[in-house]
Amino acid sequence: MRKKIVAGNWKMNKTLTESKVLIKELKKATKGIKLKNTRVIIAPCYVNLQHAVKKTKNGIIEVASQNMHQATSGAYTGEVSADMLLDIGVKTVILGHSERRDHFGEIDGSLTEKVNTAIGNNLEVIFCFGEQLEDREANNHFKIIEAQLKNVLFHLEANSLQQIVLAYEPVWAIGTGKTASADQAQEMHAFIRGLFSEKYGTETANTISILYGGSVKPANAEEIFSKPDVDGGLIGGASLNANDFAAIIKAI
Ligand code: 13P
Repeated sequence: MRKKIVAGNWKMNKTLTESKVLIKELKKATKGIKLKNTRVIIAPCYVNLQHAVKKTKNGIIEVASQNMHQATSGAYTGEVSADMLLDIGVKTVILGHSERRDHFGEIDGSLTEKVNTAIGNNLEVIFCFGEQLEDREANNHFKIIEAQLKNVLFHLEANSLQQIVLAYEPVWAIGTGKTASADQAQEMHAFIRGLFSEKYGTETANTISILYGGSVKPANAEEIFSKPDVDGGLIGGASLNANDFAAIIKAI
């Protein structure tokens, strides 16, 4: 049975001092939650990762990085490699977030290299993709999503998909308070699973966790998570508040 996942993308929020407080609060807020087939992940910024790994050891919370460079090492000022993440105990990396695509020029080509590097280093990838508002308004959203997935993931061998978690994040729903309706999320998630089913077979497609991201809050989480092809969420704003994040975990 595929895993359910609630992941918090902290983006460029929280100093180390604030991160320490939030992790403490999170541990308190999630104490006693019975997780059934569910993983909980947080993704603080690079400089807070090592501390987060240390403080969450032996608990239910796992730690992911928000990004990574595709090269092994070298003259890439300001970048972080797979080895650097692994060495501090980070085993999961978010790749392809729309903010990386929009503000930092991440494109399918570099994302393919990043995915390959991550897979080759036994890192798990939370691969983000999603359409812009104008794509949806022009009814192009299925085409866009299909291209984003095919261009970056479909060269992988079926067994590498065990290291891939998908996160569908419609860009128009990120940080806007505008959530895709639960039905819109289900419609897209079923479409995505169908693409993987066509390429890799139904059995493999059914093992892939597909998360929804975009203005998930305690008030809407339960309805979104109730859909059969929605296997959890990638949470931005609401993951910065321990009680809200715990409420979203409880909703799964
Ligand atoms: P919000 O939950 O703040 O809309 O952000 C979603 C997101 O981008 C998670 O990666």
